[in-house]
Amino acid sequence: MRKITIVGAGRVGESTAQAVAHAELVHEVALIDIREGVAKGVALDIQESAKMFRFDTRVSGDHDNAIMRDSDLVVITAGLPRKPGMSRSDVLDANLAVIRTLAADIQRYAANASVIVVTNPVDILTYACWQELGWARNRVFGLAGVLDAARMASFIAMETGYSIKDISTMVMGGHGDSMVPMTRFTTISGIPVEYFLDPPSIEKIITRTRQGGAEILALKQTSSANDSPAAAITTMIDAMARNRQRILPCVALLDGEYGEADLAIGVPVILGINGMEKVIELELNAVEKAMFQQSVAQVREDLASLT
Ligand code: 2OP
Repeated sequence: MRKITIVGAGRVGESTAQAVAHAELVHEVALIDIREGVAKGVALDIQESAKMFRFDTRVSGDHDNAIMRDSDLVVITAGLPRKPGMSRSDVLDANLAVIRTLAADIQRYAANASVIVVTNPVDILTYACWQELGWARNRVFGLAGVLDAARMASFIAMETGYSIKDISTMVMGGHGDSMVPMTRFTTISGIPVEYFLDPPSIEKIITRTRQGGAEILALKQTSSANDSPAAAITTMIDAMARNRQRILPCVALLDGEYGEADLAIGVPVILGINGMEKVIELELNAVEKAMFQQSVAQVREDLASLT
């Protein structure tokens, strides 16, 4: 991968640009923001850190979408942020308009790119972006599960005191209150999490994971989380740029998997150079299936409001 464009130079966009530049995952990072000067300023600031962090990544910014020309990947973080007390769905209408306008310029300037949607409500906007672009589903997908699973791993590490490096988690479903943290696929060094934690402790971790974004928003007041979302986006970009074929949960367009189609929702997928290379279809037990279907119903309800 040579060039990535990050749309939206707010906190998530800025933190992502920093992380991608530091890791030298691509040759060039372009930032876009509709606020004149903002993306240019953020880009220059990051570029001026290159000497100290020792990276050769080129970072540029502009308010003109033409700067995304010939990108291999476009990451969409732009949109109206949530305020404390708002759900991710509360910002749907405003952010839908942002996605639709952007899709036309992505077609125009970066017709061969893959697109990662981050803007909330991410399940709905990933679907809308895919529909608007009319591209194959491997090229349009969204962030959610990598972040939610990382939060779940953090809470398990805090509760047990064990190294987060040994903790493996999986979170499926919509990126909202109906998300489905998968206890059965959660292990510490391969040992099922139930060996270490009792059911009430696990239940508390599941609830905290579902509310992970809202917890940070309530504390920070003026901003959603940005460090962990940026780390999650960078993890996805790394999987693609280095063609790692990683198995990670992402918002993917379903085409019959899990008995669903014409819907974007969090499921484990393989991420590599071609984007979302494959959906992994797990055999869910009755309880997991019920939770997943409840999440599907929630996402479908929001999708129905798309006009
Ligand atoms: C989060 O979960 C903003 O949805 C994002 O923090």
